[in-house]
Amino acid sequence: MENFPVISLEKLNGDERKATMEKIKDACENWGFFEVVNHGIPHDLMDTVERLTKDHYRKCMEQRFKELVASKGLEAVQTEVKDMDWESTFFLRHLPVSNISEVPDLTDEYRKLMKEFGLKLEKLAEELLDLLCENLGLEKGYLKKAFYGSRGPTFGTKVANYPPCPKPELIKGLRAHTDAGGIILLFQDDKVGGLQLLKDGKWVDVPPMRHSIVVNLGDQLEVITNGKYKSVEHRVIAQTDGTRMSIASFYNPGNDAVIYPAPAVVEKESETKNQVYPKFVFEDYMKLYAALKFHAKEPRFEAMKASSNVNLHPIATA
Ligand SMILES: [Fe+2]
Repeated sequence: MENFPVISLEKLNGDERKATMEKIKDACENWGFFEVVNHGIPHDLMDTVERLTKDHYRKCMEQRFKELVASKGLEAVQTEVKDMDWESTFFLRHLPVSNISEVPDLTDEYRKLMKEFGLKLEKLAEELLDLLCENLGLEKGYLKKAFYGSRGPTFGTKVANYPPCPKPELIKGLRAHTDAGGIILLFQDDKVGGLQLLKDGKWVDVPPMRHSIVVNLGDQLEVITNGKYKSVEHRVIAQTDGTRMSIASFYNPGNDAVIYPAPAVVEKESETKNQVYPKFVFEDYMKLYAALKFHAKEPRFEAMKASSNVNLHPIATA
């Protein structure tokens, strides 16, 4: 199997721009995932995010997680647990309105830092969306606009830790799923692995790499590209040793954004492909996803198609 795609964004500024764009295109078409380095987010900022996230876990989350495990008797399970994950999480929202000042148990230093990190990631997400536009033959800003709705995109960060698990074969760190939204930027532990994606029917490790950001595409980009790019199933296998840090930031459409295949992509493909993805309001998709996250995405697309009884894009009916 080919190697997991690692892309140096710095190379976009020089002679290797064309080859780098090609690499991104290949990763989007064949992996749904890639890892970026030289992405412009300062390494010392990332180091501080890592240090404060790990401090916060030890001070505020670890004991709570241990109590949860004890109360559910999870250490002693004998059969596969299918209704929960071996993870400790909290969520920060950046856009459309930040909730960082209201999230409990965070120090002022950590709040300020996560705001700053959020801004850098937002900028990187928008740069990546424009690279995707270029590769797709869409005008610059198309994807940002498609996600905008009336109040701009939704952007948030799930901070997770996956503590050592005595029975990783019976309880997943995070069960297999595709991400519902747009583009996801992950700052993952550089030592404790565990993230895997499904490629050609096989689970492939996403290698930990210091100061890299793992990028993956969500269901909405699959719809907008009419399946040219796919959201790919992934999962976390908790390790028996070591706690895995995972800081995943989701750049998603606004709730009222209307999502549909980009006409320019559909037109280009119409001779080879007559299947067209549905058109819907993002919030409606999320209601369905909330109940069906750990199921295959195809029935979700089918359900959205069935419920979009009006206003299908003209090309969709051709
Ligand atoms: Fe995910």
